[in-house]
Amino acid sequence: MRTPLIAANWKMNLGAADAQKFISAFVPKVEGIRGVQVLLAPQAPLLPQLVSAVKSTPIQVAAQNCGADKSGAYTGDVSPVLLHELGVKWVILGHSERRHVFGETDSLIQARLKAALKETLSAILCVGETLEERKKGETLKVVARQLGALQSGTWVEGYDFKNFAVAYEPVWAIGTGETATPAQAQEVHHFIRGWLTENVGEGEAQVIRIQYGGSVKPDSAEALMSEKDVDGLLVGSASLKPEVFAEIVQNAVKSGSDWKNDKDRFK
Ligand code: 13P
Repeated sequence: MRTPLIAANWKMNLGAADAQKFISAFVPKVEGIRGVQVLLAPQAPLLPQLVSAVKSTPIQVAAQNCGADKSGAYTGDVSPVLLHELGVKWVILGHSERRHVFGETDSLIQARLKAALKETLSAILCVGETLEERKKGETLKVVARQLGALQSGTWVEGYDFKNFAVAYEPVWAIGTGETATPAQAQEVHHFIRGWLTENVGEGEAQVIRIQYGGSVKPDSAEALMSEKDVDGLLVGSASLKPEVFAEIVQNAVKSGSDWKNDKDRFK
């Protein structure tokens, strides 16, 4: 019963005029597509512009990070309170670039997540191993450690787990053109679902969407989405062009996986 969640992570790309052009071209291409949730994550200063631009569409806006506190002396961070006030619905946390370029630790990412959930933001927690870790056979160990941010104590009372997703983004697949094979993605997604079942809850694990990210292209979207535990995609470079990202959204819902046959998923 999981609605596919397809998100564009624009990273530090697309300016104000580009974003406006993107919306004008993208919205008409996807507005007829049912049974999918689409998110756009622009650079922080463009969040209000994007919220306003997608107001009359089902598209939602995501921030690329948020502060670990409501307010305070945290130069460069954006408060989750402000994001909520601006009408931003989602936030991406623990992206591999935040971990590896900016040195964010598991505990900082958990603090950011807790702060986001308190402000009722929906969140995507990114996890994924480096090439070196994969070669050493440490993929699942690394992913389990990163999932530690979701231990009890993180969740707010009565939390609706439809508003939370995990994105598996192997670092070796990000921006490299080397997509994980559907089988490689499914292996880790299956592990994540099992971890969530054990550590968050059985019902919760069935509701939480698990996205794949890393060099997703229109050609790879359908096969990845056909895997049982791949419930969505987090797309970087291929999300910068409206026609390419629209094709990914289109192809993602074409897949013939079980959810396609489950009519309830489209409600
Ligand atoms: P690419 O699609 O450019 O590999 O980026 C993936 C990613 O990091 C999305 O968050």
